Amino acid sequence: MSQKGFTLWFTGLPCSGKSTVADAVAERLKKEGFKIERLDGDIVRQSLTRDLGFSEEDRNENIKRVTFVAKLLSRNEVGVLAAFVSPYRSIRQHVREETTNFVEVFVKCPLSVCEKRDVKGMFAKARAGIIKDFTGIDHPFEEPENPEITLETDKETIDESTEKVIKGLREMKLISEIRSSEAYSPEEEEEIKKRLESLGYL
Ligand SMILES: Nc1ncnc2c1ncn2[C@@H]1O[C@H](COP(=O)(O)OP(=O)(O)O)[C@@H](O)[C@H]1O
Ligand SMILES: [Mg+2]
Repeated sequence: MSQKGFTLWFTGLPCSGKSTVADAVAERLKKEGFKIERLDGDIVRQSLTRDLGFSEEDRNENIKRVTFVAKLLSRNEVGVLAAFVSPYRSIRQHVREETTNFVEVFVKCPLSVCEKRDVKGMFAKARAGIIKDFTGIDHPFEEPENPEITLETDKETIDESTEKVIKGLREMKLISEIRSSEAYSPEEEEEIKKRLESLGYL
């Protein structure tokens, strides 16, 4: 098992599935022993960038600070999984230039589906005018032109999207020797566990 530092950058509309897939990929990689770190808009905005709002200027400043963190980690062999709406092409280009092995993951999902999911009730608030500058409603989203990976979360299951990302990382040679989730059946897993126990390893 070996890994290079990388910056896996999930961009997409609110509720498109960025955090969900990033979490699932992170879990898979952690289980395999890879060094990874998750950066997520929701968490970062309560800490590192809690002073910022959602104007164009503040959104760019939010991403610039996150880029600084991703840069330090990815150049030290850590795999960074970052989930941010990051609606502007120019700022995503900035992240690409600053970080090691940048991989853009376009989490594609029609606005109507995202709005129906409305995980935190934010679309409803934006439609009601309670919150302003909400991406997809009254704030633009510039779709990636050449993303390394595109997920279509209205057509794929979470598992399929996750597998697509893992496969992409493997093809780009950023990770190696990760076994497919289907490599061992539960029965085989049990058998291996018993064998390791009998040898005194567990
Ligand atoms: N293929 C898929 N990938 C990711 N999320 C999906 C998928 N299919 C359905 N979903 C659902 O969509 C929602 C996405 O929410 P979330 O990950 O919080 O979005 P974001 O971080 O982009 O705002 C979750 O409730 C998730 O279960
Ligand atoms: Mg999220």
